[in-house]
Amino acid sequence: MTRPRRRSSPAPVPARPRASRARQRQRLIDACISALHVHGPSKTTVAKVVAIARMSPGIVRFYFDSKDAMLVASLEFLAAEFEERLLVPVAALKSKPVEALERLVDLYLGPELASARKVSVWYSFWGEASSRQEYFDICGTRDSKFESLVIDLIGRLVEDTGARHLDADAIALGLIGVLEMLWQGFAFQTESTIDRGAATRRALAYLRSVFPGAFGRTRAASASVALPPGAYASAPLLEAERQTLFRHAWQFVGLERELRATGDFLTLDGPAERALVLRDAAGALQGFRNSCRQRPHALATERRGHCDRVIACALHGLRYGFDGEPVDGTPAGPLTRLELAVVSGFVFARAAGPEPAPPPAPMAAVAATALPLQPGRVHEHEVAADWKVLVEQWLERPTTDTAAEDAAAGDGWSAGRYRALAARVGGAQHQASYVAPNQLIDTGAGGVLVLQVVPLAPGRARLRAFHYAREARTREARALGFLAARLAAHRTAAEVRLAESVQRGLESPGYTAESVAAAPPALVAFRQSIARLLPGGARDPGDPA
Ligand code: FES
Repeated sequence: MTRPRRRSSPAPVPARPRASRARQRQRLIDACISALHVHGPSKTTVAKVVAIARMSPGIVRFYFDSKDAMLVASLEFLAAEFEERLLVPVAALKSKPVEALERLVDLYLGPELASARKVSVWYSFWGEASSRQEYFDICGTRDSKFESLVIDLIGRLVEDTGARHLDADAIALGLIGVLEMLWQGFAFQTESTIDRGAATRRALAYLRSVFPGAFGRTRAASASVALPPGAYASAPLLEAERQTLFRHAWQFVGLERELRATGDFLTLDGPAERALVLRDAAGALQGFRNSCRQRPHALATERRGHCDRVIACALHGLRYGFDGEPVDGTPAGPLTRLELAVVSGFVFARAAGPEPAPPPAPMAAVAATALPLQPGRVHEHEVAADWKVLVEQWLERPTTDTAAEDAAAGDGWSAGRYRALAARVGGAQHQASYVAPNQLIDTGAGGVLVLQVVPLAPGRARLRAFHYAREARTREARALGFLAARLAAHRTAAEVRLAESVQRGLESPGYTAESVAAAPPALVAFRQSIARLLPGGARDPGDPA
């Protein structure tokens, strides 16, 4: 954001500590940024920061003289990151101003610099800038450099295009204003609701309106290009996906109403965690890694079950209370806790990460019906295709009436009856919610189908289908639930067939990634999130691999 310009002496460069110290200091800074995002500067305390960092309070004094020093270090980190990740690479492209400005827009609105967490921290500091001179100085330095760079690039473009009647200073100010407005929008959203593709298109539309024909042609082509074929069978990429996309991602475990009584549990073998979720004696849900402390052996091996007073490990008999603490002198530490979120009655779990992660968005389509869902069945299919192939299928296709339409070919009789009954019982519209990175929740009149894809190996995945019928109060509603379950099975089988066919195509020697049709924004954003993990770092999927 552009704040009032003010020249100041550069921030002191801290002495370089040894690697482990640097890591600890960086961990505190990351935690401080997370705390600032949640609490703002005035309510961020050392206690909150060390709780997020999982470090002892005393360690803060080793690295920072005071809370204010830690806040300043966090802002300096963001400013340095902005310089390193945006100012330096964009300045390197100065001789090609169109390319440089497209890169600038991409980076400014990209997830590395413009996560909801980081953007809100910039704004929270800005709110206190009038009383905190050091914050003001750091922001001012960064903004001056950014503004100079934009003016320079626009000036070069004015020269290149011969449009000397244009005022480079005023056009640069306009672009900065557009980018800031888009950032403001990000600050009030979650990562799952930010539409970076739409934001980028709006910023480029501004530039195109000033320099007709100069922007957007490359973008339009690259947006519809697939990932390189090697991305669907790459062990290093899969490892990067596991670390970056899956490690702390929310994973659907089941319905809250499947856990009615004390001791009822559900388990899930997720892409990064084995989860055990149970209801404790106080009626609260507790989430743990489903793994004994003695050996990484699953404490509960069934999908659903009941624990009687304790969680007992069958291997050597260690026992844990419903709070995860060992009982009866069990010489092991407590079970590792997982974070839980209950959204519209759906239970999600994730391994706690360095950053708070907002739970998936509430599912309006689920909430809209008064009828609760019945505990359902889970089917698993091994798929000879990469997990990304399945996700791309979900993001490519229309989000309404998908189940009925997809299943029609496999079971036309059921599909036709389903549509007729659904229209009578309460509407046939299906709504699909994508829960990044690997889940689709398809809600319709007959019930809900949750698809969850788990990578097993490069080019191989497990597709898990949870189907929940709506509680039926009439004969028609019962028939609708029956048909919905039947169609869900067809739908899942069709997903598997299609994915395996696409994977074979990707692996055939003659295949090359080509631009065929414009991809929906969600698919472009997904491919961009993968492209950033490819060797060479952040770039559009259409760039050469
Ligand atoms: S592995 Fe659990 S008690 Fe030994």
